[in-house]
Amino acid sequence: MKFTHTTRSLKGELTVPGDKSISHRAVMFGSLAKGTTEITHFLRGADCLSTIDCFRKMGVEIQEFPERILVHGKGLHGLHAPASILNCGNSGTTTRLLAGILAGQTFSSEITGDASIQKRPMERIIKPLLQLGASVKSLKNNGCVPLKIQGHPLKGIHYHSPVASAQVKSCILLAGLYSDDITSVTEPSLSRNHTELMLSYFGARVRAEGTTSSIAPGSSLYGASVKVPGDISSAAYFLVAALMVPGSEVLLRNVGINPTRNGILRVIRSMGGEVKILNKIIVGGEPTADLLVHSSHLHGTVIEGTLIPSLIDEIPILAVLATVAEGTTVIRNAEELKVKESNRLNLIVDNLSRMGADIESTEDGMIIHGGRTLRGTVIDSHLDHRIAMSFAVASLIADGETEITNAECVNISYPAFYEDLFRLI
Ligand code: S3P
Repeated sequence: MKFTHTTRSLKGELTVPGDKSISHRAVMFGSLAKGTTEITHFLRGADCLSTIDCFRKMGVEIQEFPERILVHGKGLHGLHAPASILNCGNSGTTTRLLAGILAGQTFSSEITGDASIQKRPMERIIKPLLQLGASVKSLKNNGCVPLKIQGHPLKGIHYHSPVASAQVKSCILLAGLYSDDITSVTEPSLSRNHTELMLSYFGARVRAEGTTSSIAPGSSLYGASVKVPGDISSAAYFLVAALMVPGSEVLLRNVGINPTRNGILRVIRSMGGEVKILNKIIVGGEPTADLLVHSSHLHGTVIEGTLIPSLIDEIPILAVLATVAEGTTVIRNAEELKVKESNRLNLIVDNLSRMGADIESTEDGMIIHGGRTLRGTVIDSHLDHRIAMSFAVASLIADGETEITNAECVNISYPAFYEDLFRLI
C-alpha cells in the first residue's frame, strides 16, 4: 500500500475497535462459564477470531451477530477433546492462555499457529505448567509450538515469573482454576491485569497484591455481559498522528485506560503532549474514557523500568513520535520486543533509519535524537500489524512516498485501520 498524501492536519472523532486482550478473555472465560456471556464491541480481528475457532472446536456454541457475540458456556469441565489440532494463527494470547486452560482438561490436545507463532518462546509457559503437574511437550523440541498438552490433576504452585508478561501470568492463573490449591504468580513488574479483573467479574476467587496475583481453584464462573472498551493500543496510532501533525484535533471515544495499559498517556504527558481525559467511567472493572488530543510541541523522554509492560505494544509508535520530539528519547528494558510478532526492536530501528531518523539500537532498546525530517521509502512490515500501522503513521510526516508491504496484516488487530486513518486526514 502506498501513502503519497500531503497531510494538513487530522480532524474529527473516532471510536476505535474493542480491546484485543479483553475480547480474547471474554470468549475464553465465557466458554468456561455456566450460562451465556454477551460481548459487545468485540474486536473482530483475526487474532480474536482464532480464539473463537479454537473454542468452537472444543464444542462451545458461539454466535456472531453484527452488534454482539453470544458465548454459550460449557462450565469449567464441559469442553470436549477437539477433533483436530487447535490453530491459534498469529495470536500469542490465544496460544498461551489456551495452553493454561488445556493443562486443566482430562483430554489430550495439540496447539499450533502460523510461521511467526512457531518461532515465539513457549518455554516460559511450559516450565510453570510442568510444575503444576501437566504434561506439555514441544513437538519439535525447540521450546515453540506445536505443543502437545495432556491435562493431569494439577497442584497449586507459587511461581516467580522471570518476565513481566500477562500471557504467562494468565496461563498460570487459568491452569490454577483446575488445581488442588491456591496458585499464585509473582512478576518482576506488573503486567496488564485484565485476566484478574474479568475472572473476578465472572465469579472466580482472585486476589492481586502488588506484583502477585493468585487464584483459588474450583469456583464456578458465571456468564456475564462484557462491554469491551476501545483498545488503547489501537488508539495509540491516532494519538501519535494527531500529536505530530500540526493543527490536529482528534476525539477518541470510549478508550480503555486501565493503569496497567495506559503508560502511553504518561509518556505523552512527560514529552509535553496534550491529551485530555474526559467522561471517565468504569465498566466491568475496566476504566474507560474519551481522549481529546491536540498537536503539541514535544521534547524527548526516558521510557524504562516498570513503565515498559504498561506500553509494551505501543513502543513502535512511540519511537515514531520520538523522531519529532526536540532532544533525545531513550527506550530501555524493552528486550521483550524481540519476541513479539516480529523482532520489533530491529524492525523499528532499521525502518526508521531508512526513513532518515537519527536512531541507534541498544541491547534492550534504542536511542532516538529527534528533529530530522523523515523521507518516504519502502517498509517491509514482516507481516507484523503494529509495524504496518506505526509506519503508516510515520508516512504522514515523511517527505515523498512511503510504501508498506503486506499492509493488510493490520487485520490481526484493526481491520478498518486505513479507512479510519484516511477519514481523519
Ligand atoms: C497480551 C499481553 C502482552 C501483549 C500482547 C497481548 C495479553 O504480551 O504484548 O499483545 O493479551 O495478555 P506479553 O504477555 O507477552 O507481554
